[in-house]
Amino acid sequence: MRQVFYSSKTGNTKYLAEILAASWQVKAEEIGQAEVKAELVAVGFWTDRGVADGATREFLKTLEGKQVFLFGTAGFGGSEAYFANILERTMALLPPSATVVGTFCCQGRMDAAVKRRYEQLLKEKPGDETVLQMMKNYEAALPHPNVADGAGLLLAASQMEA
Ligand SMILES: Cc1cc2nc3c(=O)[nH]c(=O)nc-3n(C[C@H](O)[C@H](O)[C@H](O)COP(=O)(O)O)c2cc1C
Repeated sequence: MRQVFYSSKTGNTKYLAEILAASWQVKAEEIGQAEVKAELVAVGFWTDRGVADGATREFLKTLEGKQVFLFGTAGFGGSEAYFANILERTMALLPPSATVVGTFCCQGRMDAAVKRRYEQLLKEKPGDETVLQMMKNYEAALPHPNVADGAGLLLAASQMEA
């Protein structure tokens, strides 16, 4: 038996969770809304300050002895090294008795408020390289997660070490 759990504030991680759940022929379940019954549990998180969000962090602690497929979305990055760092920091929150059987992370679009903040910063400091780079990243995240990200997730899940 398998279950897919997720935490999602703006829908990005939920989108991925539903793709995985459809492939596993189960229902995606929001963290806190359902009991963990399966031995193999997929957990989807959104990135909050470089690590999984708070609800996921609490949930991970409860997964004693489970096999865990961990997936997430992050607003920044687009680099595998950035994603690997988030996944590593998140994995470290699991109890030692849990086994990570696979991982996946991709970019996820950010709230329009983030763009407005960058625009404000650019008004204060026109041409600021760091802010321009952040704006570029914001634009790069807009089309994610998409169908290709969903396919990447399914590929990672199909390669599980379970
Ligand atoms: C409070 C807050 C903090 C965030 N911190 C990060 C971060 O440290 N790194 C990152 O890459 N994205 C960060 N993001 C962006 C989200 O992780 C990203 O947009 C994610 O795809 C949102 O997923 P959701 O739609 O499932 O909620 C942050 C977003 C919010 C609202």
